[in-house]
Amino acid sequence: MRQVYINGEFKKEDEAKVSIFDRGLLFSDSVYEVTSVINSKLIDFKYHVERLDRSMNELKFKTLIDHDEILAFHRKLIDLNNLKEGMIYTQVTRGVVDRSFDMPKQAIKPTVLAFTQEKKILESDTAKNGIKVMTLEDMRWKRNDIKTTQLLYASMAKSEATAKGFDDAWMLRQGYVTEGSSNNVWIIRSKNIMTRQSDNLILSGITRAVVLECAKKLDYEVITKNFTKVDAESADEAFMTSSTGLITPVIKINSSQIGDGKPGNFTKSLRAEYIKRVLEIAI
Ligand code: PDD
Repeated sequence: MRQVYINGEFKKEDEAKVSIFDRGLLFSDSVYEVTSVINSKLIDFKYHVERLDRSMNELKFKTLIDHDEILAFHRKLIDLNNLKEGMIYTQVTRGVVDRSFDMPKQAIKPTVLAFTQEKKILESDTAKNGIKVMTLEDMRWKRNDIKTTQLLYASMAKSEATAKGFDDAWMLRQGYVTEGSSNNVWIIRSKNIMTRQSDNLILSGITRAVVLECAKKLDYEVITKNFTKVDAESADEAFMTSSTGLITPVIKINSSQIGDGKPGNFTKSLRAEYIKRVLEIAI
């Protein structure tokens, strides 16, 4: 049984409790981060805690969580659960207060929880074989730049895709692809690597930022530009980025096969460069 973290304590997973009045539960008034773990080390940890602060600031949380404290419970969770490869999920809610749409004016104690989950990251089947995605309308709110736990539409979109035999959904706003259910989107056309611009309609992914650096290192030019469903369907290569998927090739979009239906060469070289880079600086 896993040991999880809750408000300063480590408990067996079936003993950790959250109040029914927690605003995270009642209003999704909470933010989260998912940090991947490879060889028992944290990948891009610093960027995750910085983004956690940003999300909390955007929602006007009054208390931030100390970064050293976050690092300490991450390390302890890896230790207690003997986690070699997978991820650590961390969630911070505004806290516990009587139910009201009006957010509390006074500072209340945030709820902080975290747990580990094992997952194959380096040698995953999806990295080896690629994934199939379908497009559907992006019906989420317009603050997807904040990493909140308000994830119902993303979860509905992913479920609709898997029910139809795809692996994920790429969401569309006014014909342009915004992002996947939990990842950023990229295509390659005539050697031009393109990823959607980062604004309020997508999460500015940490993997996305590091992959932009890796592309530079390989002398690949990346154009940060919105692209349409038609651009995506006729791409030479396509891939998605996220902390737990790293760079995952996309081999089919709707009914269109991408390239020769196998993970593309640019995608594979970017993935290799990304892995090399993050493992060097994992902590
Ligand atoms: N999701 N876009 C959305 C909507 C996401 O939920 C995520 C991450 C990303 C990629 O961000 P990053 O590279 O920082 O992981 C983009 C995580 C993995 C999750 O919810 O499980």
